[in-house]
Amino acid sequence: MNGLTEKVAFVTGGGSGIGRQVSLRLAREGARIGVVDLREESARSVVEEIRAAGGEATAIVADVTSAEQVEAGVAKLVADFGALHFLVNCAGVALGEGGVVECSEAAWDTTMAVNVKSIFLTGKYAIPQIIAAGGGSVVNIASVFGMVANPDECGYAASKGAVINLTRQMAVQHASDRVRVNAVLPSDCDTPLIAGLLGVEGAELEAAKAELAAPIPFGRLARPEEIAAGIAFLLSDDAGFITGVSLPIDGGFLTK
Ligand SMILES: NC(=O)c1ccc[n+]([C@@H]2O[C@H](COP(=O)([O-])OP(=O)(O)OC[C@H]3O[C@@H](n4cnc5c(N)ncnc54)[C@H](O)[C@@H]3O)[C@@H](O)[C@H]2O)c1
Repeated sequence: MNGLTEKVAFVTGGGSGIGRQVSLRLAREGARIGVVDLREESARSVVEEIRAAGGEATAIVADVTSAEQVEAGVAKLVADFGALHFLVNCAGVALGEGGVVECSEAAWDTTMAVNVKSIFLTGKYAIPQIIAAGGGSVVNIASVFGMVANPDECGYAASKGAVINLTRQMAVQHASDRVRVNAVLPSDCDTPLIAGLLGVEGAELEAAKAELAAPIPFGRLARPEEIAAGIAFLLSDDAGFITGVSLPIDGGFLTK
């Protein structure tokens, strides 16, 4: 893909699932990666994987709901690599909080903080650096469940709907700064997040995943590598005239 080599990317949630695959993919394309995660061990292990393959990366341990930690994380990446061009917001939670009657106030607040406030905070500190570097690109991960309703997750639904419209706002505001901002909408994807949500293991987990995959026309869950490929495209110069879109990567789920 064009325009990824030597670029510097701040990838939140980079220690697991989709964020891990985004970090690995961008590093293979020649970008330098700040692997940002709450969990130090996960961030470090992805950094080691990238370095072992000949790439460049640094671990940034930060809670993306904390303004101080996000600001310090962005500053560390710019100090380490000299600039910042890309922001990829992959950190997120799905807590299985239920509908508005069942959901606890704590689960609502956590979901909105990790899934939405984080994008406000990373944008606040990263976008001025991207502008200073002459422009770049942001990709936020929303979900197909930001477009259609899942009856079991009121906070998740609200958070992902918010990510879609926040993406539009950021795109329109920063178009003249040469900063493109897009979102991807994955359908259910085979990552530790889904395994945690299903809460079962072994054969039971495989059966539960097959049930989740049933409404997807492709008949299977997305692979995190497939979401990462769409994100790499949106970041690249190949998507140079694309901003403000929410790209489903969903095996046809939203089309049905
Ligand atoms: N897996 C799916 O089915 C699916 C579908 C649609 C959208 N998504 C979205 O994709 C994103 C990534 O999901 P995933 O499946 O890769 O999840 P995951 O659980 O595998 O990875 C998420 C990562 O985010 C990190 N994280 C969580 N809270 C954090 C915080 N406060 N600060 C810093 N890091 C934090 C976790 O430590 C973890 O490493 C999420 O926004 C999720 O909602 C996932």
